[in-house]
Amino acid sequence: MQIQIHVAQPAHAVYAQAICDLMAESAKARGTGIATRKPAYVAEKIMSGKAIVALVDGELGGFSYIETWSHGKYVANSGLIVNPKFRRLGLARKIKGAIFNLSRELYPDARIFGITTSLPVMKINSDLGYKPVTFSELTQDDAFWAGCNSCPNVDILTRNNRMMCLCTAMMAPSANEARKMAVDLSDMIVEG
Ligand SMILES: CC(C)(COP(=O)(O)OP(=O)(O)OC[C@H]1O[C@@H](n2cnc3c(N)ncnc32)[C@H](O)[C@@H]1OP(=O)(O)O)[C@@H](O)C(=O)NCCC(=O)NCCS
Repeated sequence: MQIQIHVAQPAHAVYAQAICDLMAESAKARGTGIATRKPAYVAEKIMSGKAIVALVDGELGGFSYIETWSHGKYVANSGLIVNPKFRRLGLARKIKGAIFNLSRELYPDARIFGITTSLPVMKINSDLGYKPVTFSELTQDDAFWAGCNSCPNVDILTRNNRMMCLCTAMMAPSANEARKMAVDLSDMIVEG
């Protein structure tokens, strides 16, 4: 089995419809959580190189893309999907690692966050250095929260004035914050 993890190139736009179909099927199966996306939106993310496309033996294996909020202060890695045929092979872990690195490369000052009910995503996020936070720490950009309108639990979010819902929020420091933390830590190391 040959797994390839690509930063999206224009040629990958042919997968936009298949990616949306996987997302829609998965949302139906889970009954919660996943915001619906249109092929044109996914294609735009692919064309602008703000996405990761995974191929398994030349077939679409999975996908995730970058969204920026609050004028680039925050980045979300969204739309993670793995083809059901290729689940439990470590593909999500590879895609999440690649989109995380790409986010830090493209937006070194942005904190990276996500909201999820998914155990695999929580596990992977923790390993990448995300920490759980309250919703108050996230972008307050209305456009981000509008993505929750297609979730069946949106009434809970609205009732709680966007302060809490069924998803857990997780956030990782920006590349520059992480670099500074590493330097501060090395300053504290006492030899002897
Ligand atoms: C969630 C999803 C992306 C996981 O993809 P995957 O390629 O199967 O995940 P991986 O193989 O990389 O597994 C990552 C970790 O999660 C665990 N895991 C994966 N699926 C799991 C499941 N259904 N239940 C419990 N643990 C699971 C794996 O064991 C692994 O843990 P480990 O590294 O500690 O052993 C995939 O199931 C999917 O596309 N689901 C529908 C869409 C979705 O839920 N997206 C997330 C929205 S926030």
